Amino acid sequence: MGGPTAAVRCRVVRSAAAQRIVARHGRVDTLGMTNTIPVVGSAPLLGSLYDLNTTRMRAFFTRAYIEHGPVFEIRVLGQRLVVLAGPEANRYASGSGRKSFGSHLAWGRLDRHFGVASSMISVDGEEHTAMRRVEARAYTRAHFNATIDRSAAAAHEDLDAVSPGWLAVAPWCKRLVTEQVARVAVSGSARPLLDDLVRYVQLTLMAHVTRQRPPALMRFPRVARSQRRVWAMVDALVDERRRTGPGDVPDLIDDVLAAAALDPGRWGPTDVSVAALGAFIAGMDTAANTLAFAIWELVQRPELVPDLVAEVDAALAGGITAEALERMPGLVRFLFEVLRVHPIAPALERHLVTDVEFAGYHLPAGTHVIIATTVTHSLGDLFADPDRFDPDRFSRERGEHRTPGAYVPFGVGTHTCAGRGMAEGLLTLDAALLLHTLRFTKDPGYRLRQIARPTPSPDNRFRINVLGRRTPDDQRAVSVPRTQADREALTPRT
Ligand code: HEM
Repeated sequence: MGGPTAAVRCRVVRSAAAQRIVARHGRVDTLGMTNTIPVVGSAPLLGSLYDLNTTRMRAFFTRAYIEHGPVFEIRVLGQRLVVLAGPEANRYASGSGRKSFGSHLAWGRLDRHFGVASSMISVDGEEHTAMRRVEARAYTRAHFNATIDRSAAAAHEDLDAVSPGWLAVAPWCKRLVTEQVARVAVSGSARPLLDDLVRYVQLTLMAHVTRQRPPALMRFPRVARSQRRVWAMVDALVDERRRTGPGDVPDLIDDVLAAAALDPGRWGPTDVSVAALGAFIAGMDTAANTLAFAIWELVQRPELVPDLVAEVDAALAGGITAEALERMPGLVRFLFEVLRVHPIAPALERHLVTDVEFAGYHLPAGTHVIIATTVTHSLGDLFADPDRFDPDRFSRERGEHRTPGAYVPFGVGTHTCAGRGMAEGLLTLDAALLLHTLRFTKDPGYRLRQIARPTPSPDNRFRINVLGRRTPDDQRAVSVPRTQADREALTPRT
């Protein structure tokens, strides 16, 4: 993260509520006249650059939140950024402040790289609402359910290809999830171009969004070749659909082409292709990396596995259906805990499009802010013993995720993940089929090392030891209690 310097010297907001917040965090000077945002101490030149690595930033922001409260300033390479954190920040960004945050500063560079004026993730206001109305349907749980056979077929193919011995987890998850996103969202296949897709999508995000790589990298022959191939694939999918019309189950391309027919000025040919590629940009690494973390947690906690396997076996006894996935509340709680402990988007970059009064500060329009959303995931007053991996915190009785603003793996505000339904469906299906099909154990020599390309993931050395396949006898169903109330308890409110 980086970007323009924000104006950070602010005047005191004099409302009683604001004064209480300010007093609580002890930031009013003795005269009560001015208020300066606390600055997190850092190295002279680099500032907090080291701590802003995606794999470290949540811990860094959490420490700063505990020390300074919900608003603080950090320095990075001579630039100043304002950070908003804690449940109050999440509630504000999802509630009364939702229209105050703009996305263009963070995501607009991607539009320029793609050659479009805007895209769903970079626009705000009515234009965003209109684009989201068009694009989000194909990312819903309902669409995932309607196409579940496609996701299940891809999973079976990749599980069938696994032999006993070592399996490198992160690349396996990437291959599977990318193929599932291709089949579900755009009715295509990513298999022939997997390496190109992974290379192009990751480097594009790192060069034009997170700025972990210089944009010049995109001109390297290997990267440029991947870029050409990926766009040729996407354009071919769109062209074919123009010729054939919608498939049996309309997908993202069908929805966007229908919108383009009504409003060709808004949806030019490049906009349509960018929307189709958007499925990979948004869905591929996010869900794949979360699945890899889920497998990491499974092998760390063999004591949890027998109950999960029994639940999955019982649910899948009648076949792989959308309803079967609803009968796995224990696995869903496990995956919710994976998303709490390993959120792949620990913070969001924004700029303010209006003046904002928050937590006792006045922040002017134009301020470059980071919403450190997932600081809450580590706070002991929201999640009991937060360093402990404990899926039961999502049970109906405890429901720790229900505190507004506490549990936010899918973001906050207007751009909150449009693919949440699909992501939850994919994660449940893939984890269930893995548990149902394979016997595996951990590599005792591996310690978790995370990489961020740009979303965090276990590195490619993370592998599991596949002991063999489970037989039909192994899979004999065991009955596990499951109720509607169990499922309702898993719906977080932010
Ligand atoms: C575990 C998996 C996933 C996680 C944790 C996740 C998380 C997020 C987060 C935090 C955002 C907000 C980004 C921002 O505000 O800057 C987001 C946006 C988005 N996600 Fe996901 N995501 C996941 C999977 C998916 C999948 C599978 C898809 C679809 C294939 C998807 C589609 C989108 C889209 C389209 C947006 C932009 C929404 C908008 O701008 O209105 N996501 N996601």
